[in-house]
Amino acid sequence: MRHIISIKEFEKEDIDALLDRARAIDAGNYDRHALEDRILGVLFFEPSTRTRMSFEAAMARLGGKSIDMGGVETSSVVKGETLADTVRVVSGYADAIVLRHPKEGAARLATEFSSVPVINAGDGAGQHPSQTLIDLYTIRQAMPIDGTDVGLLGDLRYGRTAHSLAYALTNYDVTIHTLAPESLEMPPNVIEDLRERGVEVVEHTDIAEFAHNLDVMYVTRIQRERFPDMASYYAVASSYRVTPELLSGARERMIVLHPLPRVDEIDPRVDALPHARYFQQARNGIPIRMALLQEVMG
Ligand code: NCD
Repeated sequence: MRHIISIKEFEKEDIDALLDRARAIDAGNYDRHALEDRILGVLFFEPSTRTRMSFEAAMARLGGKSIDMGGVETSSVVKGETLADTVRVVSGYADAIVLRHPKEGAARLATEFSSVPVINAGDGAGQHPSQTLIDLYTIRQAMPIDGTDVGLLGDLRYGRTAHSLAYALTNYDVTIHTLAPESLEMPPNVIEDLRERGVEVVEHTDIAEFAHNLDVMYVTRIQRERFPDMASYYAVASSYRVTPELLSGARERMIVLHPLPRVDEIDPRVDALPHARYFQQARNGIPIRMALLQEVMG
């Protein structure tokens, strides 16, 4: 039984094989009945548009079905049911569970109670492995990952997509550049980990100098829901913004990614520039999640 909890558990060969499988799926080479008799249990304890809908769409494209707990407020969670019990029960209804939860470590905990594979769709500030595969796939569509300068911009403290991606990139020959508002820097233990895994990490403070020396700019939203209080959120809100003016000095091949949703950190005028790849990135959620679902249930 294969759980998908953290990108750290993937070997480079696993990642590349999944990306190759997704590319074949993208080209139309897949069995539309591959998961015909399978059911995916969708347990989201946090808001989601892309992740939830693209997992369900991926399941449907492979002939499978999804059952969704719905919002926390309409489930037995409000009656006080524990995550352990919910997972135990739903693993009796479904052939795999996709779980999003506000607590770091929740997906790992769920594996102890689940009799079917668990896919982590985001655990607090922890990990979001399927998003990371989408991010790598989108980079690879534009250029080879090896040899790139990848910049992570925004909330690098609470942003799980930035953490996941940074760890995945240690499998490649890249330089990671970071730029975050004060108090939202990448946790020192993560930076240390990345360096130990052999990747150069360059921390920046000047956004123009950062933006002009990248092949990939990975922009993230400030994770308002993870702040201890709103005052500390408002102290950093809207403190960075990617604009066409900023990008006019960027490398020609540089691509801008964002896991979405965006708030105000990318000017909508950027959408029309050839650098902008975030909507394509969101579309890539389908082939990647089809490949993943087949991996755990095929
Ligand atoms: C991200 C998440 O939930 O971590 N969204 C997503 O899955 N594409 C990013 C975010 O919420 O900022």
